[in-house]
Amino acid sequence: MLQLRNVTHAYDGRTVLRDVTLDLAEHRIGLIGANGSGKSTLARTLNGLVVPDSGSVLLDGLDTRRHAKEIRRRVGFVFSDAATQILMPTVAEDVALGIRGARGGDAERRVEEILRRHGLADHRDHPAHLLSGGQKQMLALASVLVTEPEILVCDEPTTLLDLHNTKVVERTLRALPQQVVLLTHQLDTLAGFDRVLVMDGGRIVFDGAPEPAAAHYIALMERRAAEAGEPAAGGEAGR
Ligand SMILES: Nc1ncnc2c1ncn2[C@@H]1O[C@H](COP(=O)(O)OP(=O)(O)OP(=O)(O)O)[C@@H](O)[C@H]1O
Ligand SMILES: [Mg+2]
Repeated sequence: MLQLRNVTHAYDGRTVLRDVTLDLAEHRIGLIGANGSGKSTLARTLNGLVVPDSGSVLLDGLDTRRHAKEIRRRVGFVFSDAATQILMPTVAEDVALGIRGARGGDAERRVEEILRRHGLADHRDHPAHLLSGGQKQMLALASVLVTEPEILVCDEPTTLLDLHNTKVVERTLRALPQQVVLLTHQLDTLAGFDRVLVMDGGRIVFDGAPEPAAAHYIALMERRAAEAGEPAAGGEAGR
């Protein structure tokens, strides 16, 4: 299980995570919050991409500060801009990259299987950079899943996708046997999730079921808008 213990982190003296303590045990966990609230930074601590200034992040008791390599192998990470995650010229090569070193026949079988499962089998020798946005996102997902991580952290994986590809990625994530931690601004994506965390100013300000979490977040944003003197969402009716 992933555990955060009093995690605090600052960039250039500006604190972006404030004393976050969490046990992440649930199968499907959502993380929502305003831009800049610290979601991506928190997500990056989960596989050691960010090591916090103080406090610790543990996977089954292993600290990301000391066991980054093993933890990165067990916790896969998918970014919203899939293009930045594509490293090899062709689709099949990109997927194979994650398991180089696996025994020949086995690696090939795993690549083929994962390409088929993600609707990319017909594109195996296609230049990866020419895939559509949705296909690139599926490729990024495939290239992470082929490494068989135990946990998948997805930082807004559908933000750049159209409605259809959003649904495809959502469906793919839902069907995974792995634990998933999903960051999103699309609140309806989290229906049926076991737990949703709301972040604000580097803290977890709500922790519960999807609907009350979304309500908490929306109320928070409306309060902010009112404080800033902006018209409430819904225009005249909201005044
Ligand atoms: N590498 C970095 N160096 C300096 N500041 C950073 C860095 N990464 C993030 N920050 C700052 O930390 C704060 C939190 O950023 P973070 O990306 O965690 O927010 P977020 O909740 O993911 O936002 P968004 O919804 O826009 O993705 C922001 O003010 C951001 O500018
Ligand atoms: Mg972010």
